[in-house]
Amino acid sequence: MSAPAFRSIALLGKFAGHCVTAIQRAESKNVADAAAKSIKVDLTSASGLAEAFKGQDVVVSATPNPVLATEKIWMDAAVSAGVKRIVLSEYSTNMDNEKSKKLPIIYDKLQTRKYAEELGASGKIGWSSVNNGPFFVPFIWTAGWMGPNVQKKTAMFHDGGNKIVCTSTLERIGETVAKILAPEHAADTKNKPIYTYSAAVSERKITDIVSKITGIDFAVTNASVEQITKDTFAAVAKGDNSRNMGFYIPFCWGDGYGGDFRSQAWNEKLGLKEMSDEEIEELLRGFWGRARLTESQAAELGDYLDDSV
Ligand SMILES: NC(=O)c1ccc[n+]([C@@H]2O[C@H](COP(=O)([O-])OP(=O)(O)OC[C@H]3O[C@@H](n4cnc5c(N)ncnc54)[C@H](OP(=O)(O)O)[C@@H]3O)[C@@H](O)[C@H]2O)c1
Repeated sequence: MSAPAFRSIALLGKFAGHCVTAIQRAESKNVADAAAKSIKVDLTSASGLAEAFKGQDVVVSATPNPVLATEKIWMDAAVSAGVKRIVLSEYSTNMDNEKSKKLPIIYDKLQTRKYAEELGASGKIGWSSVNNGPFFVPFIWTAGWMGPNVQKKTAMFHDGGNKIVCTSTLERIGETVAKILAPEHAADTKNKPIYTYSAAVSERKITDIVSKITGIDFAVTNASVEQITKDTFAAVAKGDNSRNMGFYIPFCWGDGYGGDFRSQAWNEKLGLKEMSDEEIEELLRGFWGRARLTESQAAELGDYLDDSV
């Protein structure tokens, strides 16, 4: 996962008395400076991974595009190395909601979850996952995909902009991973998806705060969640997957899809405070000047962003 979340896992792991080792791709050029040590491994090698996992209590996955075929390799390696708990790379929105489960974007993660559930049921290993809603980061909240586009001075509201979604900073996600593994929560969080969030926000709320910070009077476009959902399914039916990011719209804003998962969240049980409005404003102030998408983020958003902003 992106650097700040990993750093939080490492720091809180250390704080909780854990020794954190980074498992990196053999070809990686990234520096895992927050970890106690780093091991570079061929991720397709079950024996290499099992060797790397020896002596570890927990393996936390943060692979970017997890699919069962590749996730299964490290999960089986964790079992054979005697690891007690695996944490799946979900970090998604509501993966336990029946309507959301029909969205193709989480198909691969659901397959991986199913395999973890089988491992958990067999008693071979325990699993957990963390789901956090859209990341509370600039490329999601200031690029016009949801709410304000600071560069273009436009804002996108879905179904009026007042619906609520739970959103999490990367630090909150790292903190949650560390908390669910802590001795006081490890038994309760075994074989479960854990929901967490930093703030429950609407597109209108974020747009109003960004407007206050930047002085921009955003030109608002309203979009229908139902229409976007229909269009995205229709594109997929024609074999066009370039608009798949459209599925994130019902995932976050659709009626009955569970984007507002406050009632499922473990915040209170884990002692994780929700951000105040002042803290949200402070965080958004920090985004100013970093609202531009990186090339890879823009490529990931693809055609959908071009057409919708
Ligand atoms: N809720 C949201 O808004 C949201 C947004 C984005 C992502 N996510 C989810 O968060 C999880 C992590 O995604 P991310 O975008 O944070 O990941 P990322 O930053 O793109 O990649 C994380 C690390 O994985 C390693 N990596 C890169 N390519 C890999 C590959 N092909 N196979 C295995 N490892 C690879 C790299 O570390 P090394 O170089 O050290 O090997 C990289 O730094 C995924 O489950 C993703 O779906 C959620």
